[in-house]
Amino acid sequence: MKVILDCDPGHDDVFAILLAAASQEIELLGITTVMGNSYLQNTSKNARAVLDFFGIEKPVFAGCSKPLIRNTIIASHIHGPTGLDGAKLPPPRHSIEKMHAIDYIAQCANKYNNLILVPTGPLTNIALFILRYPFLTGKISSIVLMGGGIFHGNITPTAEFNIFADPEAAKIVFNSDIPIVMAPLDLTHQVVVSSKEINTIRRLSDKFNLLADMFVYLQNTCKDEITSTGGIALHDPCPIMYLIHPEIFEINEYKVDIEIKGELTYGQTVVDVLNVTNNKPNAKVLTKVDSELFLKIFFNKMKVLTSY
Ligand code: BDR
Ligand code: CA
Repeated sequence: MKVILDCDPGHDDVFAILLAAASQEIELLGITTVMGNSYLQNTSKNARAVLDFFGIEKPVFAGCSKPLIRNTIIASHIHGPTGLDGAKLPPPRHSIEKMHAIDYIAQCANKYNNLILVPTGPLTNIALFILRYPFLTGKISSIVLMGGGIFHGNITPTAEFNIFADPEAAKIVFNSDIPIVMAPLDLTHQVVVSSKEINTIRRLSDKFNLLADMFVYLQNTCKDEITSTGGIALHDPCPIMYLIHPEIFEINEYKVDIEIKGELTYGQTVVDVLNVTNNKPNAKVLTKVDSELFLKIFFNKMKVLTSY
C-alpha cells in the first residue's frame, strides 16, 4: 500500500515515521510536514533529521505554516521549543524538497490509485489539498489519522490537540467524501510506554538510545495526561499500526463532526456514539487495541532499523 505520512514531529511522530519506514507492508512514498507540535521550520527539520539519522531515503515536503483560520498554537509545553527536546539529533544532511506538501500529495494522487494519507498532526495540509484539488479526492482510498477524542480531549476538556490546532481544517476533512479511519485519544491512551519500555528502546542500538532520551523528556511534560507514573501514550504510531495489523484493533463506525463555534467545545470531535442523529457514519473509529501485542510488534519492527 502506498502511503504519505503527514506529520508534525514531535516525539511520537518520530516513531510513526520509523514504524512506517520499518514496515514492508507499507510503501512510504514521502513525508509531508505541517505546523503543530512546533513551528513548520522545526517540524520539517525534525522529520529530515530523523530520516537522515537512520539513513532512510525518503523525501520531505513542507506544507502549511499556519492553520486555515484560527491563530497558530504549538505544543511546546509537551514537545519543547524545538518540537523534539530531550535528544540532540545531528543536523539533517539532505534539504527539504522545493515542492509544497499539498502539490506532492496531488502529484501522488494523480499517479497512483488507492493512495493512503496518514495525518498525525493538524489537518491543515489535508484540508487544503481537498480544497485545491477536489477532482483528486476520489483517488485517495482513505485517510487514517490520529486525532480527536470520543469522550475527552487533552488540550481542552473536550478537544484533542491535532483537531484543536486547526478545527476548520478538520471539519473540511471529516465532511469530505474520503473514507476516514480515526485513532482518537480513547484508543491511543491504551498504548502506554513507561520506563520499562523506554529501557527496551534504549537497548536496541546507540541511535535508539538517543531517541529514548526524548521519551524521558516527555515523561516529565506529559505527567498528567494518562497517569502520574510516567506513562506516555504512543499516539502517532497507532494509525500506522492499524494499516499493518488491523486485526489487533476493534472498530466502530460513527458519524463524526467537528465543533467550530463552541465557546467551551471549540475543536471537539462530536462522535455520535448512540447514533441519535441517524446520520450515516463517516468514520471508522478505532476504539480498542491489544496493547501488549501492539508493543511486541512495535519493538520487533524497530529491530529492523537497528542495522540502519
Ligand atoms: C497528538 O498531539 C501531538 O502532541 C502528538 O504528536 C499527537 O499527534 C496527541 O494529542
Ligand atoms: Ca503529532
